[in-house]
Amino acid sequence: MRTITLINGDGIGPEISSAVVKIIKASGLEINWDIQTAGQDVISAEGTPLPERVLESIKKNKIALKAPVTTPIGKGFRSVNVQLRKSLDLYANLRPCKNLPNIKTRFNNLDIVVVRENTEDLYAGIERMVDDNTAESIKLITRRATERICRFAFEYALKNGRKEVCVVTKANIMKLSDGLFLDVFRKTAENFRNIKNREILVDNLCMQLVQNPEQFDVLVLPNLYGDIVSDLCAGLIGGLGVAQGANIGLDYAVFEPVHGSAPDIAGKNLANPTALLLSAIEMLRYIDEAQYADKIECALFNTLEKGIMTKDLGGNCTTTAFTDAVIANMN
Ligand code: NAI
Repeated sequence: MRTITLINGDGIGPEISSAVVKIIKASGLEINWDIQTAGQDVISAEGTPLPERVLESIKKNKIALKAPVTTPIGKGFRSVNVQLRKSLDLYANLRPCKNLPNIKTRFNNLDIVVVRENTEDLYAGIERMVDDNTAESIKLITRRATERICRFAFEYALKNGRKEVCVVTKANIMKLSDGLFLDVFRKTAENFRNIKNREILVDNLCMQLVQNPEQFDVLVLPNLYGDIVSDLCAGLIGGLGVAQGANIGLDYAVFEPVHGSAPDIAGKNLANPTALLLSAIEMLRYIDEAQYADKIECALFNTLEKGIMTKDLGGNCTTTAFTDAVIANMN
């Protein structure tokens, strides 16, 4: 039986993670969950929101499913997510954005996967005050990080039956940094002749995404553009309650929803478990359990098709009622 780390988070985290564990169990797939607490609930006892034992567990099991955790404001703790990404070198942020049945959005045939470089660009944290009136941030792009993210995007496309990878830059202006990203993309594309490649400038991409997003397949972007564009794409498919994600490295992968711990609805049985469930489905595909992933996805789609939804999507289901409905709709 496979062991997977489960970070059940805080706020709505425990409610949605127990929903997802229940649904996976109902699919017939046996998983030994190595449950790890993290976030604000463990700070007083352990002095940090991300104790070393959590990292050790992921290093041992290689794969984690993570519910959201609260980042305490102004207490000197770094975000658990940022720490996880850095400590485990999770260099690829993956955000599949696909229309779900019965969820009304402006466009109906969206199936975009955003692949965001997770470790450098303007997020490398190389900043300084030049003088009292001038601040400077360095946009760091390296060949090594760009090669691995471009290769990741093409390999993902290949493994998942995708047709095209489109690189997004502003290489016409940042000729060296984005220019390097583009150059490495072009070289990588030569090794993946069966996948089409395409280039677009980030400003044009944004306009196309709000006018005609159905044309896009896999997008690969440096960190900053990726951060912004992935939220734009999440909005296109219905927003936080349904936006899934994953942070993937060479050795480890952490699957998690885009949304946070939603303290305003925590403990009220109102949270939508769909984004975490979709993240778990992607995780099952990643560990080659596609049969169970398909079965659970089908049950989720059947449930939504019948109009059974949580309140955030306009329905009237509680978290537990929605979970039970997904299980009841499993074939
Ligand atoms: P949030 O995503 O927690 O909530 C924003 C709004 O969306 C709230 O009204 C909330 O009720 C609603 N919402 C979010 N997820 C939902 C769900 N599954 N079902 C129904 N409604 C949902 O963002 P917010 O309030 O800015 O952040 C709260 C805390 O979460 C902060 O401490 C933040 O740092 C943390 N956070 C953690 C993340 C993670 O662990 N990956 C990601 C984003 C934020």
